[in-house]
Amino acid sequence: MDALKLVTVVGARPQFIKGAALSRAFAAHNAAGRGPGISEFLVHTGQHYDHAMSQAFFDELEIAEPDVNLGVGSGPHGSQTARMLEGLERVLAERRPDAVVVYGDTNSTLAGALAAAKLRLPVVHVEAGLRSFDKAMPEEINRVLTDHLSTLLFCPTRTAVENLRRESLAGGVSLAGDVMYDSILYYRERAMAGEAPLSGLAPGEYLLATVHRAANTGGRERLGAILAGLGDMARTAPVVLVLHPRTRGAMESFGLAAPDGVRVAPPLPYLAMVRLQAEAMGVVTDSGGMQKEAFFLGRPCLTLRGETEWPETVELGANTLAGADREAMAGWLESLARGERAVPVDARPYGDGRAAERMVEILVNHFRRG
Ligand code: UD1
Repeated sequence: MDALKLVTVVGARPQFIKGAALSRAFAAHNAAGRGPGISEFLVHTGQHYDHAMSQAFFDELEIAEPDVNLGVGSGPHGSQTARMLEGLERVLAERRPDAVVVYGDTNSTLAGALAAAKLRLPVVHVEAGLRSFDKAMPEEINRVLTDHLSTLLFCPTRTAVENLRRESLAGGVSLAGDVMYDSILYYRERAMAGEAPLSGLAPGEYLLATVHRAANTGGRERLGAILAGLGDMARTAPVVLVLHPRTRGAMESFGLAAPDGVRVAPPLPYLAMVRLQAEAMGVVTDSGGMQKEAFFLGRPCLTLRGETEWPETVELGANTLAGADREAMAGWLESLARGERAVPVDARPYGDGRAAERMVEILVNHFRRG
């Protein structure tokens, strides 16, 4: 039987991490020699292009270099997505894979799904069914549209399966578990070995913060409130703010500086972020991935948004939603200091760490036997 031919589309930081988990599972499947092999052709859209946002991940996670880099770079959503579409259509039309694999909710995800669907190629969506129910988020638009274009929808959680059911999507939907959990289990030991990524931080005594969502970086008032909230926190514990280039740019253009006690760091590699989260007293973020990584690593999280795609973390008491509210930020830190934010250790809402393996099995069954 011929190998199953896949084209994978990635473009932004978290997709390199998620893609690595599946690439490893493809290699394991091929090495086991059971059933048809899988050949993967990797396309990088070039959405993220700074060394620290892209190549550093390929080096560290030992991911095969992309077969093609479309080099689209930054731009307004419409033109960035359009440039991706144009490049992807060309690659997909030439290769005619059995399916196209896309991850998450970025502009690269939507472009991959749309280019494939228009060429009548089946789309496989990893991290399907997540919803914030906030259409003002570009990511929400990307994920809803991608789900509705997909043939196989791999959900990380029961909530995600239920969200799809409410949108009348049931065919091809499976509860596969979360590849980010696979990834933490795989890399954790390596992350904890060796030297600490940043000097001068006492384990368990600092807060780790990131901010990059458009809603938080698009206006001076909101970004200013978040920075002020971090400044309040820094009076209790040192705060490390790992700064996305978008946020750095926004602070510069609004004339905002990091408050006293808030130490700014450049974008860091994955293993460094895992280590810094594992050793933090708490994580303050608007990232989707870090809300879960903090949970996997047993660290309490404060989310700088009003809603989350990961309600399980909130229901389990591990995550608190604060928006950009300074008082809520301070209140969370007080409750943390009182020991009220313990993260439950035996809850497993994100699967068993073998999500990628399960996805491979479903993929092979669907496209080769199904
Ligand atoms: C994107 C995703 C988001 C994901 C995040 C991970 C969309 C709509 N959003 O957001 O879901 O959580 O990636 O990081 O796809 N920039 C650089 N260098 C880079 C990349 C970006 O300087 O290597 C700057 C540019 O000024 C750019 C801005 O960051 O305009 C935003 O980049 P973009 O890729 O549009 O979105 P992210 O905020 O990274």
